[in-house]
This record gives sequence, structure tokens and C-alpha cells, in this order.
Amino acid sequence: MEMAVELILVLLHHWLLFLHAGATPGHHGGVRLGCQTAALLQWKSTLRTSPPALASWRQGTSPCTSNWTGVTCGAVHWGRRRRRRHREPLAVTGISLPFAGLDGRLGELNFSALPFLTHVNLAFNSLHGEIPLAIASLPALSILDLAGNGLHGSIPSELGSMRRLTQLGLFSNNLTGRIPASLGNLTTLVALVTTKNLLAGPIPGELGKLTGLKALELGDNFLSGRIPESFGNLTQLNTLYLFSNTLSGPIPAFLGNLRKLRDLELGTNRFSSEVPAALSNLTELDVLDLIEKELTGSIPHEIGFLPNLSVLVLYSNRLSGAIPASLGNLTMLNHLDLFDNQLVGSIPAELGALMDLHTMSLPSNMLSGSVPATFGNLTAMRKLFLFDNRLSGPLPREFFNLTDLAVLNLSNNSLSGELPSNACKGRNLQMYLVFTNMFTGSIPRDLKSVGA
Ligand SMILES: *[C@@H]1O[C@H](CO)[C@@H](O)[C@H](O)[C@H]1NC(C)=O
Ligand SMILES: *[C@@H]1O[C@H](CO)[C@@H](O)[C@H](O)[C@H]1NC(C)=O
Ligand SMILES: *[C@@H]1O[C@H](CO)[C@@H](O)[C@H](O)[C@H]1NC(C)=O
Ligand SMILES: *[C@@H]1O[C@H](CO)[C@@H](O)[C@H](O)[C@H]1NC(C)=O
Ligand SMILES: *[C@@H]1O[C@H](CO)[C@@H](O)[C@H](O)[C@H]1NC(C)=O
Ligand SMILES: *[C@@H]1O[C@H](CO)[C@@H](O)[C@H](O)[C@H]1NC(C)=O
Ligand SMILES: *[C@@H]1O[C@H](CO)[C@@H](O)[C@H](O)[C@H]1NC(C)=O
Ligand SMILES: *[C@@H]1O[C@H](CO)[C@@H](O)[C@H](O)[C@H]1NC(C)=O
Ligand SMILES: *[C@@H]1O[C@H](CO)[C@@H](O)[C@H](O)[C@H]1NC(C)=O
Ligand SMILES: *[C@@H]1O[C@H](CO)[C@@H](O)[C@H](O)[C@H]1NC(C)=O
Ligand SMILES: *[C@@H]1O[C@H](CO)[C@@H](O)[C@H](O)[C@H]1NC(C)=O
Ligand SMILES: *[C@@H]1O[C@H](CO)[C@@H](O)[C@H](O)[C@H]1NC(C)=O
Repeated sequence: MEMAVELILVLLHHWLLFLHAGATPGHHGGVRLGCQTAALLQWKSTLRTSPPALASWRQGTSPCTSNWTGVTCGAVHWGRRRRRRHREPLAVTGISLPFAGLDGRLGELNFSALPFLTHVNLAFNSLHGEIPLAIASLPALSILDLAGNGLHGSIPSELGSMRRLTQLGLFSNNLTGRIPASLGNLTTLVALVTTKNLLAGPIPGELGKLTGLKALELGDNFLSGRIPESFGNLTQLNTLYLFSNTLSGPIPAFLGNLRKLRDLELGTNRFSSEVPAALSNLTELDVLDLIEKELTGSIPHEIGFLPNLSVLVLYSNRLSGAIPASLGNLTMLNHLDLFDNQLVGSIPAELGALMDLHTMSLPSNMLSGSVPATFGNLTAMRKLFLFDNRLSGPLPREFFNLTDLAVLNLSNNSLSGELPSNACKGRNLQMYLVFTNMFTGSIPRDLKSVGA
């Protein structure tokens, strides 16, 4: 049996060689459209309920001429010369059925009968079983997206032999084991996504050979060890997700080489170090998430040189020192979260220049001084958290310009003077917490009308 399968693979391999090299004039050898059709119908019959999405897949019709849902076909030519008189034979080249309610085993699909596939998108169905090895033998496959299914078992190391693969999407399955080092052979890869699985062990340094990668998303697994040094070579990356693993060691300065990064999310790991100033070379950065437990030192003032940053999240670390005034340069910022650190000093008035900010969260630090008058400019702000600090004095009059806040928590400071009575004018206020201060005056009357 195994021999037979091997033989088929060898045969397939041979005629596909000439398919791509166009060397030998072909006969209609290999897999006819009829066999491709049979493989699809056979798979449909194994699915748990007959999904409405596959109603058009019917016996006696053809996937290429009867417009089967989710199936694309293309003309494949078998020989050196394009035949002009005769139509080139059609073959199934793509299956795209995301969110189609497919419930069954992926392994029941006979991939050996579908050697012309260039793309397979079966994301967000209920497919289970292991990733079939036969997929690795699909010689033309460029896009494989199996995200959001219930696949288990390990990622077959054989996938490393898929010479044309550009996108491998395995987001949100139940895959276990290590990330195979062989994936480092997929030099055509542009996107590799294994976020939200149960993968463990170290990140193979071989992935640093994938220098064409634009997105590398390995977040939300159980990966351990350090960020491989070879990642400093992934200079085309615009997205790097390593969040929610158990990675350790320093946040490496070589990440500063990845000049095209827009989204860097390393949060919720066990990194311990200072925030490297080298990150300030990532001038295209849009999102920086470093929610760790062990980051120390101060916030480098160079972070203020990232002109496109819209999200800066450094909460739950042990960052000390003052909030750098340079953060006021981040005019694209809409989310600033420095919650739960050991920051001291006063809140820089420069933060009042962040006109696009809709969330500012600075609680559970040791910030002192008064709330800057410039905060009155932050009219886009919806959520402001300053609780558990040592802020004092009255709120500046300008603060009363912030009429559209949805959440305001100033609790547990030493603020005095008048309560921010206008806070509910915009009728967005859902939560208003000012206790453990020394405010005078009454709770704003309008508050009753928002049911807070
Ligand atoms: C094929 O089916 C789709 C949807 O089922 C429809 O939108 C499309 O017009 C059909 N195309 C042809 C050529 O029949
Ligand atoms: C899968 O398809 C190949 C090629 O058409 C065929 O030779 C083989 O018998 C099929 N396997 C199964 C289990 O149907
Ligand atoms: C993944 O595994 C967990 C635990 O074994 C199980 O509860 C869950 O239902 C599985 N998810 C899927 C999509 O199969
Ligand atoms: C693929 O990668 C593995 C592990 O990195 C390596 O041992 C193997 O030689 C590579 N294979 C090819 C064909 O490049
Ligand atoms: C980065 O790539 C260069 C050139 O291919 C190579 O010489 C170097 O060893 C790589 N660096 C790491 C850390 O893998
Ligand atoms: C940023 O890149 C420049 C080279 O363009 C380099 O000289 C500098 O050391 C880098 N900055 C940091 C903080 O690594
Ligand atoms: C900032 O983002 C815009 C729009 O995406 C882009 O055109 C611009 O080049 C970016 N600036 C920098 C310094 O990367
Ligand atoms: C950033 O802010 C600092 C302090 O507010 C200021 O001195 C500096 O000129 C600003 N740099 C840029 C590039 O805007
Ligand atoms: C912000 O507010 C301050 C004080 O209320 C004011 O002087 C300044 O011009 C305002 N504008 C900006 C962009 O900071
Ligand atoms: C008030 O904030 C301080 C930190 O600034 C914290 O230690 C203390 O537990 C907080 N008190 C209450 C009642 O939450
Ligand atoms: C903000 O408040 C100040 C002082 O209360 C006031 O002079 C100013 O006009 C207000 N600005 C806006 C934009 O409402
Ligand atoms: C408001 O601040 C208090 C601390 O004084 C905290 O216990 C509470 O969780 C905060 N609530 C919200 C919604 O931020």
C-alpha cells in the first residue's frame, strides 16, 4: 500500500516536472478532470452535514463548467507548445471556502487527485484531524489557509518542501509540537501565521532564512527560549507577533534593523531588559506592544521619534523614571497605556499635543504634580485613567472642556477643588470614578441622566 502511494507520488512528480518545465509533450496522463471531480464529490460525501455552500457540487456536473461554489479552474498545458486549435484541458486550481460551515476531516480530501491546486482557503470551518501529509506534495500550491479550524497534531515537517508556498495560515487551531525547522526552506514565503495554537519549544533560528517574509505571526502559543538572532535578517517584515508565549531573554536591539516593521507585538512573555533605544529606528511603526512583567529602566525618550505610532502599550512592567516629554511628538497616537509601572515625576504638559488620543491610561504609578492644563486640548479622548497615583491640586479649568469622555477614573489621588462637572455633557459617560480624593462640590447633576 505504502509502495503504491510512493509510486503515485513519483509518477506525479515526473509529469509535473514536465508540466512546469514544459519539456516533453504530454499526453493526458496523470489526473483527469473526472478524477479531480470525483475527489471533491467524495470529500463532500464525508462531511458531517451537507453544507448549503456546497449545493452546487453535484454528481453529473463539472467543477469547471458548472460553476461550483468555491472552486476555480484554470487551463493547464501539458507540453512544450501551447495548443492553438485544441482547448487546453481545464483543471481545478483553487478551492476557496472560508466560513462555509464545513464539518469533517481535512484528511478525507484526496489531495493527490488535485495536483494543480495553487490556492486552498478553508479558513474558519470545523475541519478536524491532522494536517494531511499529501498537502506537502502539491507542487504548485502557493496559498494554504487553514485558520480557525480544529486541526490537531503537529505541523508536518514535510511542508518545508513546498517550493512555491507564499502564504501558510494556521491561525487558531489546536496544533501541538514544535515549529519545524524545515519551514526555513520555504524561501518564497511572504506570510507565516501560527498564532493561537498549542505550539511549544524554541523558535527555530532557520526561520531567519525567510528573508522575503512580510508577516511572521507566532503569538499565543507556548514558545520558549529567546528571539533567534537570525531574525535580524528579516528586513522585509512589517508585522511581527510573538505575544503571549513564554519567550525570555532581552528584547534584542537587532529588532531595530527591521526598518519596515509597522506592528511589533511582543507583549505577555518573560522578556527582561530595558526597552532598547534601537527601536526608535523603526520609523514606520504603528503598534508597539511590550506588556511584560520584567522590563526595567526608563522609557527611552527615542520612542518619541516614531512619527507613525498609533498604539503604545507598555503596561505591567517595572519601568521607572519620568514619562519622556518626547512622547508629545507622537501626534498619530490614539492609545497610550503605561498602566502599572513605577513611573515618577509629573505628567508632561507635552502630552496635551496628542490630539488624536482616545485612550490614555497612566494608573498605578507614582505620578505627582497636577493634571496639565494642556489636557483640555485632548477633545478626542474617550477614556482617561489616572487612578492610583499621587496627583494633586485642582483640575485645570481647561479640563472641563473634555465633555465627551466615556470613562473617567481619577480615584485614589490627592486631587482637590471642583469636580469635573461637564464630563457628561456629551452624554457618552458610562463610568465616572473620583472617590478617595478631596474634591468639593456635588456629583454632576447630569450623571443621573446617563444612569451611571
Ligand atoms: C456562479 O455562481 C455565483 C454564485 O453562486 C454567481 O454569482 C455567478 O454569477 C455565477 N457565474 C456564472 C458564470 O454562472
Ligand atoms: C486519490 O487520487 C489518486 C489520483 O487520482 C488515485 O490514484 C487514488 O486512488 C485516490 N486515493 C483514494 C484513497 O481515493
Ligand atoms: C482544542 O483543544 C481543546 C482542549 O483539548 C478543546 O477544548 C477545544 O475544543 C479544541 N478546539 C477545537 C477547535 O477543536
Ligand atoms: C530543509 O530544512 C531542513 C532543516 O532545516 C534541512 O535539514 C534540510 O536539508 C532542508 N531541505 C532542503 C531540501 O533544503
Ligand atoms: C544574516 O544573513 C547573512 C547573509 O545571508 C548571513 O551571513 C548571517 O549569518 C545572517 N545572520 C544570522 C544571525 O543568521
Ligand atoms: C539606528 O540606525 C542607525 C543607522 O541608520 C545606527 O547608526 C544607529 O545606531 C541606530 N540607532 C540605534 C539606537 O540603534
Ligand atoms: C507613515 O505612514 C504613512 C501612511 O501609511 C506613510 O505614507 C509614511 O511613509 C509613514 N511615515 C514614515 C516615517 O514611515
Ligand atoms: C520631540 O520632543 C522633544 C521634547 O518635547 C523636542 O525637544 C524634540 O524637538 C521633538 N523631536 C521631534 C523629532 O519632533
Ligand atoms: C493646548 O493647550 C494649551 C493650554 O491650554 C495651549 O497653550 C496650547 O496652545 C494648546 N494647543 C496645543 C496644540 O498644545
Ligand atoms: C492608592 O494608590 C496607591 C499607589 O499609588 C496604592 O498603593 C494604594 O493601594 C491605593 N489605594 C487604594 C485604596 O486603592
Ligand atoms: C477650553 O477651556 C478654556 C478655559 O476654560 C476656554 O477658554 C476655551 O475656550 C476652551 N476651549 C475649547 C476648545 O472649548
Ligand atoms: C478605578 O480606580 C480604582 C482604584 O482607585 C480601581 O480599583 C478601579 O478598578 C478603577 N475602575 C475602572 C473602571 O477603571
